[in-house]
Amino acid sequence: MTTSTASAATRQPTGASVNIPPRRLDFEFPETMKRYYYDDSPFLSSFLTTLSALFPEGESFFVESVRAYRDQITDPVLRAQVSGFIGQEAMHSKEHAAFNEAATRMGYPVTQQDKELGYLLRFGQKFLPKAVQISITTALEHYTAIIAEMLLRDPDVQQKFSPEMRQLWMWHALEENEHKTVAYDVYEQVSGSYLLRAGTMIPVTAIFFAVVAINHTRMLAADGKLTNFKDNWNGLKYCWGGKKGVFSRLLPQYLDYFRPGFHPKDHDTDALLHEWREKLFGADGTLSAQLKKTSGKKKATKTAVAA
Ligand SMILES: [Fe+2]
Ligand SMILES: [Fe+2]
Repeated sequence: MTTSTASAATRQPTGASVNIPPRRLDFEFPETMKRYYYDDSPFLSSFLTTLSALFPEGESFFVESVRAYRDQITDPVLRAQVSGFIGQEAMHSKEHAAFNEAATRMGYPVTQQDKELGYLLRFGQKFLPKAVQISITTALEHYTAIIAEMLLRDPDVQQKFSPEMRQLWMWHALEENEHKTVAYDVYEQVSGSYLLRAGTMIPVTAIFFAVVAINHTRMLAADGKLTNFKDNWNGLKYCWGGKKGVFSRLLPQYLDYFRPGFHPKDHDTDALLHEWREKLFGADGTLSAQLKKTSGKKKATKTAVAA
């Protein structure tokens, strides 16, 4: 065996080599950006802003709950997937924090909501056993995976975004699907209890819906749109209107989580991921130039530090 072959054989896999590459991006959200960036709707735009407000604290909770078990994972592939997962979620937090600053400038109570969620999650980190914390992450990663899959599949949903916000959400959706098995596989390895997994999903769902509903109402109030009945009603129907509602139609996928043998891979998104990697980061990808630029910056900083 030659030296180079030997070193290749012993080289540890990385997030990128297991198809979970942390991509450093740098979105800009100028003062002139569209306030109602989804379908010109105050209700739907502030709903997405409500979700964005939850990401920085929420995703760092995900990361911590998985990181707590990193040393127990011996499988090199899963270890690499965990690294990819941590890197991707850190980037999501960073970019959503940048958007959240823009939303704060627009007068939305994003900072307050981010802080409150932080208190709630730190309370959980202090008092809940680690196995419960990772089962919460596994439950919420199921939510993000099925919502992200819907985003990647549905052109009608995609075209309602303003162009710059579409980039942010489609990138996030792609990566949520790239790493959708990671928290689950770590959970299976360190606990694997079906009762804990399924049992956690029920309070997580109740708390998640309550937090989103309360925070969204506050966003609408801050925007002076609480009594904008027509748009609010249309927005509710768009989200929850039976079989056509973008979220209500996800009910079968949501319920699948309660099946004893469930695994996130059962919802096959390989072809979809391939398609979206090309669309965003391929030769003519809409984010390729930005990725190249930000990777270049990172390399330049490293070189400067080394020098
Ligand atoms: Fe994420
Ligand atoms: Fe995630």
